[in-house]
Amino acid sequence: MGEISQVKDPGLAKSGRDKISLAKREMPVLNSIADDFRLSKPFAGLTIGACLHVTKETGVLVETLVTGGARVFLCGSNPLSTQDDVAAALASHDSTYVFAWRGMSSRDYRQCLNNLLDFGPQLVIDDGADLISLIHSSRRGLLKTVFAGQEETTTGVTRLKAMARENKLEIPIVAVNDTPTKRMFDNYYGTGQSTMDALMRTTNILLPGKVVVVSGYGFCGKGIAKCARGMGARVVVTEVDSTKSLQAIMDGHEVVSLGDAAKLGDVFITATGNKDVITVQHMELMKDGVILGNAGHFNVEIDVSGLMVVSFNKQVVRANLEQYTLKNGRKIYLIAEGRLMNLVAAEGHPSSVMDMSFANQALVCQWLAKEGKSLEQKVHSVPEEIDKKVARLKLDAMGIKIDILSDAQVKYLSSWQTGI
Ligand code: NAI
Repeated sequence: MGEISQVKDPGLAKSGRDKISLAKREMPVLNSIADDFRLSKPFAGLTIGACLHVTKETGVLVETLVTGGARVFLCGSNPLSTQDDVAAALASHDSTYVFAWRGMSSRDYRQCLNNLLDFGPQLVIDDGADLISLIHSSRRGLLKTVFAGQEETTTGVTRLKAMARENKLEIPIVAVNDTPTKRMFDNYYGTGQSTMDALMRTTNILLPGKVVVVSGYGFCGKGIAKCARGMGARVVVTEVDSTKSLQAIMDGHEVVSLGDAAKLGDVFITATGNKDVITVQHMELMKDGVILGNAGHFNVEIDVSGLMVVSFNKQVVRANLEQYTLKNGRKIYLIAEGRLMNLVAAEGHPSSVMDMSFANQALVCQWLAKEGKSLEQKVHSVPEEIDKKVARLKLDAMGIKIDILSDAQVKYLSSWQTGI
């Protein structure tokens, strides 16, 4: 390990390596990309800085980039989501440097972003846009060397688009999150299943008979609602968007305001990417013993500091589960301190779905290494051929063959002359 890395315990590397090997078995698309990179070395001489949840799947991505010739500096994208054994395993590689440990303070988190930036990455991969916004604020000197970046999650893309709108974005960014083979699978299936996994690990409650309130019916919220219902819960959705609300109703869920849902729910899960979704006013309406959790990127969706104020006692009652006793005598249980529960209280998305997200990241890195310097300084979509390639490789790995258009069909679909 480079002396440079900062991880909790280098002695955990063997366990991390075992986890990465197991994840690799479920990530055939990324493996086939790594095989190409091994020969073509698209990142020879390139330094990549990545701010990502340090999970076993991220380990497979990092190894893929290193196989392509990169030197990779990695920090965590959340103070609580790092898998310490994976961090140790990655830090033991020659070309990988890691600044991440589980349970770091917010101050340490910012310091680790800065430590990574001290090594002058040329290409950056972000998850939540903290790294890229730092480059555009207190680390502006790096704008001379960082030539492009890519973003993994909805909240990060939202922030970067806001920067672009205000003409503050000074490097080209690719919104990996928004490409279909990422958002329709990772956010939907991955967040859905792993959020339920976190709920089970922290509480082990029986879902049939329970009311699960899901706030936000976007890609993540839909996945969570589907999984909760599949496990027997009655799902109530809260939204601010009229079209999404209609969709939730037609998908068979109840839709009410959060003020009304507060009195009904047994479990509340936020996935909005917005702040102040569950407030103290809502909490004061809730039944005794409700469970609150957040699957959105930042810990701003549930008012945790407000909860502290209206409580007279807080204690950890299980791993990643805190019991708050309110001044009105009721108890509220909070999962993972209000941070994204599937990564803190479970293991994040299953490897098989991260295979597609990180295949996109790897191929976008390859594209940016070649074309990034000539791209406009705005938020770009993932090129369609990359998205289609990821889907095709995934189908190949699953042994599924699909039909192909005949020449006549291609012609028909691109013409207007033939009608009834
Ligand atoms: P999305 O944009 O598809 O959906 C968000 C939904 O929340 C929208 O329908 C919006 O109308 C709704 N919303 C906004 N404010 C609301 C409020 N106050 N009350 C109720 N609904 C509200 O976004 P997506 O992709 O579902 O992502 C949601 C969050 O989850 C983001 O922060 C994203 O970064 C994060 N994320 C977390 C993952 C995880 O592993 N936990 C994985 C992927 C994304």
